[in-house]
Amino acid sequence: MCGIVGYIGKQEAYPIIVKGLKRLEYRGYDSAGVALMNGTLNVYKKKGKVADLEHYTDGANLSGKMGIGHTRWATHGEPNDVNAHPHRSGNGRLTIIHNGIIENYAPIKAALQKEGHVFVSDTDTEVLVHLIEEIQSKDDLALEEAVRVALSKVVGAYAIVVMDAQEPNKMVAARKASPLVVGIGDGEYFLASDATPIVEHTKQVVYLNDEEIAVISLDKGLKIRTISNEEISSPTIHELELKIEQLEKGGYDYFMLKEIYEQSGTIADCMRGRLNAEEGWIKLGGIDEYKNRITKAERILIVACGTSWHSGLIGEYLIEDLARIPVEVEYASEFRYRNPVINENDIVIAISQSGETADTLAALEMAKSRGALIYGIVNVVGSSIARITHAGSYIHAGPEIGVASTKAFTGQVALLTMMALAIAKEKGTISESYFQQLLNEFEQIPAKVNEVLKCDPQVKYISKEIKDSPNALYLGRGYSFPVALEGALKLKEISYIHAEGYPAAEMKHGPIALIDENMPVVVIATNKSAYEKIVSNVQEVKARKGIVIAVVTEGDKVISDIADYTIEIPDTEEPLTPLLSVIPLQLLSYHIAVMRECNVDQPRNLAKSVTVE
Ligand code: AGP
Ligand code: GLU
Repeated sequence: MCGIVGYIGKQEAYPIIVKGLKRLEYRGYDSAGVALMNGTLNVYKKKGKVADLEHYTDGANLSGKMGIGHTRWATHGEPNDVNAHPHRSGNGRLTIIHNGIIENYAPIKAALQKEGHVFVSDTDTEVLVHLIEEIQSKDDLALEEAVRVALSKVVGAYAIVVMDAQEPNKMVAARKASPLVVGIGDGEYFLASDATPIVEHTKQVVYLNDEEIAVISLDKGLKIRTISNEEISSPTIHELELKIEQLEKGGYDYFMLKEIYEQSGTIADCMRGRLNAEEGWIKLGGIDEYKNRITKAERILIVACGTSWHSGLIGEYLIEDLARIPVEVEYASEFRYRNPVINENDIVIAISQSGETADTLAALEMAKSRGALIYGIVNVVGSSIARITHAGSYIHAGPEIGVASTKAFTGQVALLTMMALAIAKEKGTISESYFQQLLNEFEQIPAKVNEVLKCDPQVKYISKEIKDSPNALYLGRGYSFPVALEGALKLKEISYIHAEGYPAAEMKHGPIALIDENMPVVVIATNKSAYEKIVSNVQEVKARKGIVIAVVTEGDKVISDIADYTIEIPDTEEPLTPLLSVIPLQLLSYHIAVMRECNVDQPRNLAKSVTVE
């Protein structure tokens, strides 16, 4: 899940590539590297962040009007200078950057070693560039042909860009299951894993499809062929809607904090044009298009990973509660390998911020091949999941750059809420008056999010009190249970504190043994139904001297009296509470991570989009 960038044109390539890599650093930051073509090929690469590369290249010859760059999230071989990309062929002629995994690299490597190839790194990527070299030199092939033949021999996922010192005016790029976008400027071309490095140069982009190879040169322009050698005569050019301001921190210390604060606006953007309480309607294009099939569905399967899986769980509660269709939520990685039963009457919904998560994509492809209708709830426009689904809805949260997902989560939950309501209305599974009540309340959510954000100083204060705890427990019931899971994941991933989310009532079946006076227990206690039950759960924690931090509905007296710390959120309809109650938990993890001096936007070992299995 590395980030890759390429440039060919009239300008110096290095500054464009480095700036682009910084935009893609959310995808991986184990090492960074560039290769620049300037008569000869100069390669510079370094373990660490793009800033380390910049430091390393200080004073070096960085000229060249064509070049490639890479920011790595290691899969094969530890993060170090040698394993950093770009990798070179044995004869030094070719250089490659790669995002993905070459699964059959081992037998290819062994065969190439027999031919005399010597490898310097532990990566699968180096094997690919040697394979291209072998094929090219044997039959004296043009670069694009050697790449094409080599790719027909590899199994796995890749987005690659290759340069050849003997064809110094040409770049060859290809993709399969890893994203790659071509930007078309005025006499210049850009390549990148997503559009963020491209948008400040041009709005015209072509999204490469799987198994397509792009050959880019200034004299012949952009030519695309498939791996089976068919020409794509007129690739579709898309106009980017992304704005550069969306990619900046805008005065916040971290992207994560900016994204937490954006949520009032992003939820409103998600609802815009889709919901009108005054006129009493909800309309989702994707649902309308397949209305019959969706309302008659016998079952809905939701596949996702991480935070998106948590929003899927809320989707399950919403859809079953309101639209009365049975829902199963699956980890995409499990689903795809366990031979699940999928029927033609099933709807399979994939939820993904990036739209590129390899496991989710593969699960969806499998469901599609078995005849299910596949639906995408995605943030990144034009991403792979968005493009393979039959129907779908964008959440319109704008670029999410912090590795810890925040505004995408609330966007996904908002979308799932609208989906549940739209199906419920169509099927008549909830009364007109309840439908209207939920709509009225839904329209208030963006304003209520702003209200919740006022708890920030209080959350910061609580963070100080618990920042040194090695563990934390998050509890919730009903709609608040997935919120507990999400709160625990946020804390784990950015502050490196071990945290567990549990259904509050499950606590007594095991985790209660962990509770003592040092254990912070975050309880999401905004429930209306089963309120007394959650009160009892809080009592159980207090009886064992746990430190209770409770998220409650404003005006709550009972839990506030028992808890050590209370965070109030505005009152709302129960199915809508996750949209509000998750926000204090996002802030809690943020402040704790800052106090522990962790890199909030780029937590260790993680990457924003996991395009490998
Ligand atoms: C969220 O904070 C995580 N970094 C991660 O769990 C993420 O939600 C997961 O990798 C799924 O990503 P996606 O939504 O882009 O598919
Ligand atoms: N497999 C390649 C490597 O280590 C690329 C990794 C990726 O795209 O995540 O280094």
